[in-house]
Amino acid sequence: KQPVLVAPSLLAANFLELGKEVDMVNRSEADWFHLDVMDGRFVPNISYGLPVIAQIKKRATKPCDVHLMIEEPEKYAADFKKAGADILTVHFEACIHLHRNIQQIKGLGMKAGVALNPHTPVGMLENVIRDIDVVLIMSVNPGFGGQTFIEQTYQKIRQLRQLITDNQAHALIEVDGGVGTDNAGQLIQAGANVLVAGSAIFSSASPAQTIHALKTSAQ
Ligand code: DX5
Ligand code: ZN
Repeated sequence: KQPVLVAPSLLAANFLELGKEVDMVNRSEADWFHLDVMDGRFVPNISYGLPVIAQIKKRATKPCDVHLMIEEPEKYAADFKKAGADILTVHFEACIHLHRNIQQIKGLGMKAGVALNPHTPVGMLENVIRDIDVVLIMSVNPGFGGQTFIEQTYQKIRQLRQLITDNQAHALIEVDGGVGTDNAGQLIQAGANVLVAGSAIFSSASPAQTIHALKTSAQ
């Protein structure tokens, strides 16, 4: 049985206490830092970028999973590598030459992720699935934390699990948006490997305990 990986999204963290938030994640049972980059073009919001990630990287003791919600991500892949990204995820919908972008990310020495908006069928990845390390299924429309989980996601996870098996691929299935202790068990059961959670973790009374609950949600 594969372990459940938990990736807290710092979008919901207290930015005035960012060091403390990073320390909390370091000490917790979480596996990755999930870092959301938005450009106000690909998504209707702007978050944070390279300098903030570089600072987080200095303090983080766990891999940095950078989710690029930006247009033309190929222009910045090398910069995000420099800033400390271990996993770099680009959106399917933002890449005209997705195959090339995946090779670029891997060539820079990072794991390559591809994110799918809620409307994008998993079948669109059929010809690159063996080249990808992570598929990020968006379970809300990207751009904001704290949105309602889209129920259709369960079916997409099952379809993606089938696609991975059929192609003897190794990609991890990551789910992002509206994930919390209420749906984590079902997501793992459907075939997810990595749970991203922002508000569920950082708005809870005890973030570390919520991380523990997510981590053990398959049991
Ligand atoms: C949304 C981001 C998410 C976001 C999730 O566009 O990709 O990572 O932080 O936030 P919650 O867990 O609050 O839905
Ligand atoms: Zn994200």
